[in-house]
Amino acid sequence: MESPFKADALKGKVALVTGGGSGIGFEISTQFGLHGAAVAIMGRRKHVIDAAVGALQARGIRVVGLEGDVRKREDAGRVVEETIKNFGRLDILVNCAAGNFLASPEDLSPNAFRTVLDIDSVGTYTMSYEALKYLKNGGPGKGPSDGGIILNISATLHYTAAWYQIHVSAAKAAVDATTRGLALEWGSDYNIRVNGIAPGPIADTPGMSKLAPEEMKGEHRDNTPLYRFGEKWDIAMAAVYLASDAGKNVNGTTLVVDGGLWLSHPRYISKEEVKWKSRAVERRSRNNPVGTPSSKL
Ligand code: COA
Repeated sequence: MESPFKADALKGKVALVTGGGSGIGFEISTQFGLHGAAVAIMGRRKHVIDAAVGALQARGIRVVGLEGDVRKREDAGRVVEETIKNFGRLDILVNCAAGNFLASPEDLSPNAFRTVLDIDSVGTYTMSYEALKYLKNGGPGKGPSDGGIILNISATLHYTAAWYQIHVSAAKAAVDATTRGLALEWGSDYNIRVNGIAPGPIADTPGMSKLAPEEMKGEHRDNTPLYRFGEKWDIAMAAVYLASDAGKNVNGTTLVVDGGLWLSHPRYISKEEVKWKSRAVERRSRNNPVGTPSSKL
């Protein structure tokens, strides 16, 4: 689908996208590039990064692939420095690297719980911490009121509760809290806008291939909300909006991009039924309000 944004919406900007080699991170990298940004993509697997770099270059995007694990502070620092070495500045950090798998709590060791928090929550903080000196106003290539942008990709799982994803729910809750905390402190002190995006289930991503694999296809698949997917493009467009000047007054928000899915519940009574039952209840309550002597007869 064609972007509704101008092709130069991010012209001159440099973005670093963790987890940028695949899935949502790759689509964000692609759309940032197509809107004029130079992009550094960070990931753990060299072959994935190399393939992503090739695909982006083929579309005329200025891109560099940087191997690294967001759990390792030395990798985070090195990747930020290499981004600067390649492009001379950093304007947008997208924290998209994440870990996920399905497990019930009794089958989830404390180390497994910690591993996901290390990638999603601590990784987001570590990358932001290492990038601060380049993102803040007055940093290299930046004017006194020209701060950068951080975008944190989270989820909606923790708004309610999600089966078999207690570790991810906890991790994403921490990411959202970090988004708000940094928006307050670094927004005030360094003119950095910090926002999040909370995708619903997105088709054709590593996350969904783990959470809704073919092996788990069941009879309820077609009518279970989890199996209605959004597109990576939806998330990338939200990212372009938040990273561009269109989002210049948005700070500390996590934009839910799930088609309203997290709000949805099964309908407990049909529309037709509610129409006549509601009228009948109304008539009864007018004639015999609850608590009046006549209603007790
Ligand atoms: N169910 C229960 N526990 C699991 C598990 C599963 N499906 N998969 C891994 N674990 C546990 C491991 O047993 C280990 O715990 P233990 O030491 O107590 O046994 C712990 O998680 C860490 O696993 P390990 O394989 O050592 O970690 P890793 O660093 O190699 O991989 C993961 C990290 C597990 C998060 C891996 O899935 C990953 O690399 N994910 C990134 C890609 C991804 O998930 N993308 C989707 C993003 S939404």
